[in-house]
Amino acid sequence: MAHSKKKIGLIGGGQIGGNLALLAVQKQLGDVILYDIPAAEGLVKGKALDINQLSAVDGYDCRVTGTTDWKDVAGADVVIITAGVPRKPGMTREDLLDVNLKIMRDVAGNIKQHCPDAFVINVANPLDAMVYALQKISGLPANKVVGMAGVLDTSRFKFFVAEALNTSIRDVEALVLGGHGDDMVPLVRHSTVGGVPLTQLIAKDKLDAIIDRTRKGGAELVGLYKTGSAYFAPAASSIAMAESFLLDRKRVLPAAAMLNGEYGINGVFFGVPVQIGAGGVEKIHTVELNEAEKAELARSYDSVKKTVESVKL
Ligand code: LMR
Repeated sequence: MAHSKKKIGLIGGGQIGGNLALLAVQKQLGDVILYDIPAAEGLVKGKALDINQLSAVDGYDCRVTGTTDWKDVAGADVVIITAGVPRKPGMTREDLLDVNLKIMRDVAGNIKQHCPDAFVINVANPLDAMVYALQKISGLPANKVVGMAGVLDTSRFKFFVAEALNTSIRDVEALVLGGHGDDMVPLVRHSTVGGVPLTQLIAKDKLDAIIDRTRKGGAELVGLYKTGSAYFAPAASSIAMAESFLLDRKRVLPAAAMLNGEYGINGVFFGVPVQIGAGGVEKIHTVELNEAEKAELARSYDSVKKTVESVKL
């Protein structure tokens, strides 16, 4: 594959940041700038060097640069934000609001200054409120700013379904709508396996258990890791979105996008299927919902709205 000259800025050199850098290089999406604050200089420089040293094994020509200087991130085509604190067992994502908002203020200000033309993907929690703060502070066009969670939540849902049926994940079609919280909405009625409705394949009590596990998917990993949260699947989910933008794939992926009346919601970022291409969020798709699904989505929106309303910009 030809060497791409696209530039990918990764803000935060922790576990997700390192995995993002590795995936971006392995997919040859472009050259990577792995940024963190000066206290983490060794970490980002070390991860960059380590990944560069594996590039000969499979012949990757993309390079990673570890830096603590925003000037190196300047002009990035895509920026993925993982900077922030992960939750610990017993915490909710909302418990991170104050500490992560402080970090987001700085990050969003620097994106405004150094990467005003980038497509920006936020991973920091509480996700829907953080992406809202990011867009407001950076002033970037709303269609160039998204939150990652829908791809992650949908991927978890699909995995649990494939596992329950002992079937290939390739044939599982499913979608999770709504905020990245415990009241997210896995759309069972719209889900299929090889075209067969999910409701025909899995008994209701088992499906309810899968829905519950999906909703608490992040907390399950926090409970296992104890000192942090998920990092492989969040990284892969963000890279799928970055790839669709960089290669103008026009994939339809669930993302926290700014809604302008769709689903009866205005001016808030919320998880819905969107088309991502070279123009950023190019289309927002509206799924037809029945009354019960609408009620579930409204509950999820109420939670997101409550957190967004407590964001002091
Ligand atoms: C996740 O869903 O894995 C992330 O949002 C991290 C978390 O705290 O759950």
